[in-house]
Amino acid sequence: MTSVDDSVAEDTTQETNYGSVSEPPVEEVENPKEVTKSIFSRLWWLILLGILATIVAQLIFLPRTSPNRDFRRWHGLKLTTSDVERLFISLLRPGKSDSEGFTTEDRIGMYLRNFSEINSQSATNMAGSENRNLEEFVEKEMRRQKCETHVYDYDLPVELQAPSDLSLVLRDAENNRVLYKAPLKELNFHTPAFFCFSAAGQIKKDYVNANMGTPADYALLDKNGISIENRIVIFSHALDSEYSLNDKIHFAEGIGCAGVIVYGDENVPKTISRKFRSHSIPTLSFRLPISFDSVKPILVALGPSYGDFKEWQFAPYSNHALQLELGTQFNQSPLRGSTIVSTMNSAMHDGIVVVGASRDSLTSTNPLSGHAIMIELMSQLSELQRLGWLPLRTIKFVSWDASRSGAFGMSDLLDRVLPKSSPVLAYINLDEDVIMGDRFSVDSNPLFNDILRYAARFVALLANSKEPKLSTPQNPHLQVDSVTTLLELWMKQSNATVNNKLGYLLAGKAAGIIQFVRQVPTMNLKFETCKIKKDLLYVPDSNSYSYHWVEQNDEGLRLHGALLRYLGLLLISLGENEVVESKVGLLFGKIDEYFTSMSSSYNILNNAWSREDVSDIFMDHAPQSVLFADAKAKKLAKYMFDASVHYDVVFETFTELVHKLAAKALKFDAYAEQVEDLWTTDFPWFKLPQKILIYLKFKQLNWKLLRIEQVLASDSLNSSGDFKHLMYDIPRGMLPMSEKNERGAFATFYEAYDSGLMEQVVLLMAEKYERLKTALDYIT
Ligand SMILES: *[C@@H]1O[C@H](CO)[C@@H](O)[C@H](O)[C@H]1NC(C)=O
Ligand SMILES: *[C@@H]1O[C@H](CO)[C@@H](O)[C@H](O)[C@H]1NC(C)=O
Ligand SMILES: *[C@@H]1O[C@H](CO)[C@@H](O)[C@H](O)[C@H]1NC(C)=O
Repeated sequence: MTSVDDSVAEDTTQETNYGSVSEPPVEEVENPKEVTKSIFSRLWWLILLGILATIVAQLIFLPRTSPNRDFRRWHGLKLTTSDVERLFISLLRPGKSDSEGFTTEDRIGMYLRNFSEINSQSATNMAGSENRNLEEFVEKEMRRQKCETHVYDYDLPVELQAPSDLSLVLRDAENNRVLYKAPLKELNFHTPAFFCFSAAGQIKKDYVNANMGTPADYALLDKNGISIENRIVIFSHALDSEYSLNDKIHFAEGIGCAGVIVYGDENVPKTISRKFRSHSIPTLSFRLPISFDSVKPILVALGPSYGDFKEWQFAPYSNHALQLELGTQFNQSPLRGSTIVSTMNSAMHDGIVVVGASRDSLTSTNPLSGHAIMIELMSQLSELQRLGWLPLRTIKFVSWDASRSGAFGMSDLLDRVLPKSSPVLAYINLDEDVIMGDRFSVDSNPLFNDILRYAARFVALLANSKEPKLSTPQNPHLQVDSVTTLLELWMKQSNATVNNKLGYLLAGKAAGIIQFVRQVPTMNLKFETCKIKKDLLYVPDSNSYSYHWVEQNDEGLRLHGALLRYLGLLLISLGENEVVESKVGLLFGKIDEYFTSMSSSYNILNNAWSREDVSDIFMDHAPQSVLFADAKAKKLAKYMFDASVHYDVVFETFTELVHKLAAKALKFDAYAEQVEDLWTTDFPWFKLPQKILIYLKFKQLNWKLLRIEQVLASDSLNSSGDFKHLMYDIPRGMLPMSEKNERGAFATFYEAYDSGLMEQVVLLMAEKYERLKTALDYIT
């Protein structure tokens, strides 16, 4: 291009010289200005013609390009999406070492050791202010990866305090003699036995053994006239407990006990699990975890079990003979949390992708697997940047604080960490202790079900030497046949199932706040404990979960490495595809599936109510309801003069809309695919208007895809509950965890039906119907 321009310029200079010489001298004298003018106008014409000719010549030979290629060129993106994927995969080839001779697994190992070492400097690490060294180390490492890094400090609720002194003494009630002082620390560790949000002070009370603390156990105590009111209640919480500890504790407190002591699993008699997660700040009361070995003398003192309690390991009560004295003290200084955010800048700014891991732990031994993986991934991605990669979409990495105490205080900060001006395409959460076993487990908003499986197929997973497949178990330079893929493992374990019911699972977590309060579609990745294998005992929030445990249970850090590769590929798939990779068909398909399965389990009620007139319910509580109007219209269309609205019509109107949305959403996905095809189709230059049209379609499509979750949220924010999602609510009440997980979608419907009140079900439908209608308009 430039060379052609230059030659045109040269021509014109020659022209000028020649012209001035050849003009007749007479005319020159008469009007020199006129002459130069005419020369110049001729000159202009020539220049124009020259330029035109050049352009035409250029255009004829101009290559056909796709909007995609134009777009990438415009933004200075040298690599295509598949280039980036390929580069990332080869950068992280199993066994490949960097310039210093370390593999990714080696680097992860170093971080795990760093975090263990730094965490051991503080008895507990529940908040940033307890361990400044940890904050500083994480900040320094995140900054080192050439990312813009910010630290946001915030105050934690005053109710949250670190324990300073604890005691539990068994006394003879008659003479107050000390019979036993329970050790309240794990062997060789200085971390106290505590639950977050416990009361400070001292109580001396009778105590009751409540076996496992289930409703059936309390019913049995009740039947035998043993009350737990104003007494200390002791129960076990096994690793495979049917109920969550949160529910068990609140249930006992609901009956009116004076304090709760929870002992751990008999299979791990020396460990103390501090895992008590509350979904809202609980009232402060006496709560204490203890190891099985430490509590045993207190239970043995109750004597052998008898009568109705034959099945129990210990007798329930001592008839005023024994008392427990529980003393607790907490540091009075308020705790401060800090969120550390690193931003990897990009070419396009329509939406961002976020990865987060929690930095806090309730012990002094946590190796922070999530952080080791996240920071090592950041370092690999900055290596990719050195190789010429410019991210298409901005990626943010977040180190969360105080997540194990309910992530309170975090939601106030959210708008600063993730400004509303740039919508978040996806949040990927590395769940608390991400490697707890070897069972791969993915929870996600249905929007990403496809991409989650797609990315897993490219993730190399080093084989486990315990599996017969590996030929050279001790060889550090891995053979190709010792590598499988994450997808293969995932298929073998669960047919690559993604759990889409998030309501219970994410409750009380940072990820929950992001999904439910901020309406960002969320994925949650982890390796869980396999329920069958007894040798992989992972005890949450105990000092037994340590670098040593990880080293023992994740051979060669193969699972850490796989999770890192998977996370990286997910980020690239989500961030590098111009058209947002969410599938609304999957989301509305699941909404349809879960609603249908929920409502059909209440068929008896639906049938019993079918002929009830519900007009009054609407007139009294929701006269403007769109559901009411639509149901009435439906009825009138069928029976011309009968506008009375029965339950069955309302139910049918609602269900039809749910089905219709699922079908429409599939069409929307097909349209998105069409746009994506056009986006990568080559066009000749003269189809520029069409290209511009495609560009506009592409922009509009992404705009919609990035905001689909917000559309499902209710705009009338309920001041008490932060939950406003169409499908996800926190299930309430004392139910087995399996049932609560089941209710992870449409919990409020389950609860409305359980109440047996038709009015509740109808009004809930009325509320959700409006949001479904909005969604239907949105994707049509
Ligand atoms: C982290 O680990 C590296 C390598 O083992 C070591 O050189 C460094 O001193 C450690 N840093 C901290 C803060 O422990
Ligand atoms: C996977 O699905 C197949 C066929 O539906 C079934 O036979 C198999 O048991 C499933 N495997 C697992 C691990 O769920
Ligand atoms: C918010 O929701 C809860 C539970 O769904 C309900 O009990 C409460 O009355 C609601 N509050 C308001 C202000 O609507």
